[in-house]
Parts: sequence; structure tokens; C-alpha cells
Amino acid sequence: MTQEEAFKNLVAHAKEYGFIFPSSEIYDGLSAVYDYGQNGVEMKNNIKKYWWESMVHLNDNIVGIDSAIFLHPRIWEASGHVGAFNDPLIDNKDSKKRYRADVLIEDYLAKLEEKNNKEVEKGRKRFGDAFDEAQFRATNPNVLRNQAKWDEVHARMTEALGKNDLAALRQIIIDCEIACPISGTKNWTEVRQFNLMFSTQLGNVDGGVGTIYLRPETAQGIFVNFLNVQKTGRMKIPFGIAQIGKAFRNEIVARQFIFRMREFEQMEMQFFVRPGEEMHWFKAWKETRLSWHKALGLGDEKYRFHDHEKLAHYANAATDIEFEFPFGFKELEGVHSRTDFDLGQHQKFSGRKIQYFDPETGESYTPYVIETSIGLDRMFLAILSAAYTEEQLEGGEERVVLRLPACIAPVKLAILPLVKKDGLPEKAREILDMLRFDFNCQYDEKDSIGKRYRRQDAIGTPYCITIDHDTLGDNCVTIRDRDTMTQERVPISDLHDIVSKKISMTTVLRKIQKAQ
Ligand code: GAP
Repeated sequence: MTQEEAFKNLVAHAKEYGFIFPSSEIYDGLSAVYDYGQNGVEMKNNIKKYWWESMVHLNDNIVGIDSAIFLHPRIWEASGHVGAFNDPLIDNKDSKKRYRADVLIEDYLAKLEEKNNKEVEKGRKRFGDAFDEAQFRATNPNVLRNQAKWDEVHARMTEALGKNDLAALRQIIIDCEIACPISGTKNWTEVRQFNLMFSTQLGNVDGGVGTIYLRPETAQGIFVNFLNVQKTGRMKIPFGIAQIGKAFRNEIVARQFIFRMREFEQMEMQFFVRPGEEMHWFKAWKETRLSWHKALGLGDEKYRFHDHEKLAHYANAATDIEFEFPFGFKELEGVHSRTDFDLGQHQKFSGRKIQYFDPETGESYTPYVIETSIGLDRMFLAILSAAYTEEQLEGGEERVVLRLPACIAPVKLAILPLVKKDGLPEKAREILDMLRFDFNCQYDEKDSIGKRYRRQDAIGTPYCITIDHDTLGDNCVTIRDRDTMTQERVPISDLHDIVSKKISMTTVLRKIQKAQ
């Protein structure tokens, strides 16, 4: 199965089992907008809980807020989003399709990489065990030619993006003879900047209207509340403010399912520090965030840092935590050292003094900021894709199982009477009523027990409990483990403890190494 087919199966599975639906589907959908279904919302809430607990409840010096989606329009001028939150766009005059110029070039670069990978595979077949990939890549003329082209185009693109040179971006598309995937022609318009913020109108008291924006990040809601939180919470530097909430971006190239959406959720934390100490905190938060990811047990090899060489004008260090999605390593989270840019800009634009008096040094200053910013939907996709497994079982049977971390699984426990009669449903409901206060349980009495197990495997339920005729006499049930499929007979009175241990988020949270 190709990677693309495997990814299609994952997307189909997410829909079939009530995790994610295309938005407005009965009206043919709305591009790059998705709804979370009955299982999706539970899983999403568990991810939020994992983040919030680790950030807010387990740190003395981090508090949470929930700011509004609409903010004063001047905020987006101060932050630079009105002037510079742009994507470079180009249209094909024949197909009338619009593309991101940099994405067209990136796709071209990906094709060069693919060509080289194919050459390497050919070499591997030809030379067998004696094949040395590094030597092959360093000497094969086809590979060298493609690599030289890749280096040249990549360097030109990085420079053009860095300088905001739209003509240079277009020239790369022309020089590389990149054609429109729809029309196949190279009949391109000029490249233009396109602002990613959605705008709408706010009625004001005079009956007039003003343009306001749907926030493209949650971070600014934190910056503009810096003084409120610092004063009312008597917060001492270093301290952080965390927030989870919706963000909106009019993405032109919205693809790869919930990886890039137009409406999505972010989990962001701004950590305010003394100027000059930001590099220490930047390093500490990089490690803390990586350890938060790894504690979930999806596989340490699935993560890597990508330190930015080219920095945004307001940053003095930045890194991405990349995850190996089904379509390759891609950004999952950003950790940014944003200097005093944001607070400084809001001080300038609002005219309010945004400073902190440091009782230890006796000085007032504008704090520096380390930001950790992760997309909740991207985190959802990372977990879902790592958990999705198609398995061949003994006897030729197949099953699809979501090997979700138990604390993230939407349903923790399925309660299944073996048959729909003889008092078994009543006993099962008694157990359900006992456990549902602490765990999200699902009761199911339809179909054979085997089919019911498969349904629970498909949504990642860590445990199934079967109530049979013996239960009525011995007060014991069979508990089945999702991953090993082993079954054990246990007293009903032990169920709560067994399940608590398995699904405990505390165990995972304890593994996280904290920023010092
Ligand atoms: N406040 C900083 C900020 O917003 P960003 O790198 O633009 O930085 C942070 O976004 C994170 O938000 C990304 O690492 C990604 O996980 C998520 N994200 C950004 N754009 C997204 C989109 N269109 N759809 C889904 N997630 C997105």
C-alpha cells in the first residue's frame, strides 16, 4: 500500500467511526473546514486536558485565560498581521486556479527529491548487499545533477521569500518551467501578496460599521492581557499565560486533511522572562515540550527539531518540533523566542505603559517572551496517524485498531452483556452506573461479541468488559485488553482500580521533564 492510500484509509476511518466529518457535507462541504464527531470531540477534549494540566495545573507560575476571538483592530496593526501576514499567490490564466507560489516551488523540489530516491532504489536493487547509499548519492551523476538543481532553487526561493521579492519568486516558477497541475500550461500571472486574515464588520454605537478580524492566532489575546493577569494574579517574572482557542486563517493551499485548516484551534503559552535570560528559557521550553510529546509513547523517533536559520524580524531564536505524519516530517509545534516585540508594539500602539517592575533588580522593563504554540488539530492528526494500525490476525482475520494512548482514547471502557436476555443487560447496566461517573463508558448489546470487540478496537477503547451468565453467580466479568486481545476474569469490585491504572493521565504527566 502506498503512503497516499494508507492516508486515505485513515481519513475514511476517521469519518466512518465518528471522529472527523467534512463540514457542511450535505451541502457538498466547505473546503478545509471540518467537524469533530462524537468520538472526535472526546479525544480532542482529552488532548486539551493533557496540555492544560501540564501547562497550567502543574506549574506554579503559569495561569490560563480565555480571551475573545474578536480583538480591537489596532491589535492586528500593532502585531504586524495587517501589514505582513501574507502568502504570495499566483494564478494560472488558463485554468483560473490560484496557487501559493512558494508551494508550487516546494512541490517542484519534492519531485527532485523523489527522482533521487528512485535512483537510489534502482542502485540498491542493482548492487544488492554491497550498496553504499552515501557513496551512491555522492557520485551518481543523475543524483548529483538533481541535487545541484535542488540546492540552487531552494537557495533562490529562501532568498526571495526572505526579501519578499515577488518578481524573483515568479522568475523561479518560469525558470523551472513549472506547469499548472490542472491546465498543464505555464501561463502565469504576476505574484501578489494575499492577507490571510478573515475580516468582518462590527456594528458600532453610531450605527456605523468597522472592519474587525477573526484572530489568526490566540497569542495576541495573551499579550494584551499581560498587565491584567500580572497585576491581578500578582505574578512574578518568570511567569506564563496559557490559552486554548480557535484561530482562523484564509489558507490558500489547505490540504492534508486537518493538517492545514481555515478554522482550527491553538494551544499557546507565552512565558515572560527577564531580558537577557531568554536563551536559557528558550532551550528549557524546547526540551520540556519535546518531553511532553514523547511522554505519550507514540515513538521517540517520530519527533525532531527543525531550528530556523531565517528568523522573523521579531524573533531571536525559533524552532519547530516536527512530527512524522503519513506525508513526512512536518511542523507540529513552534517554540519561539519573540523578544519584547509584541509587548513593545502594544505599548506603542495603545499608548499604555506595559512594563514590569522587578523587585529583585529594582528595575522596570518590558519582558521578553518565549512562546510555545501548537495546533490542537495537528496534534490530533499526529496521535491518530500514529495509532492507526491495520493488523492481520491469526486465522487470516483482519482488524483495524487505534492504539491510542489510553488517557487520550475517547471511550475508556465498553460494557458488553454477552446476550440481550437472562438478566445480563440489567447486570451490565448496574456496572455501567457504577463506573460512568469516573470513566467515559459505552454500553453495547448489538451484534456478536466479536463484532462488538472490533467496533471498540476501531475507536481505540482500551478495555472491553463482558458480562456473562457466570457473572450473575460469581460477580466476576471478563476484561479484554485492546492491544494484546488477552482476556482475564476479574471481580467487579476490582474493575475501578484496574481501569484507573491503565488510563491514568497522571502517570503520563509525571514523565514530563519541566522547564527549569
Ligand atoms: N503564535 C504563533 C503562531 O501562531 P504558527 O507557526 O503560525 O505560530 C502555530 O502556528 C501552530 O499552529 C503550528 O505549529 C500548527 O500546529 C498550528 N497551525 C498553524 N496554521 C494552521 C492551520 N492552518 N491549520 C491547522 N493548524 C495550524
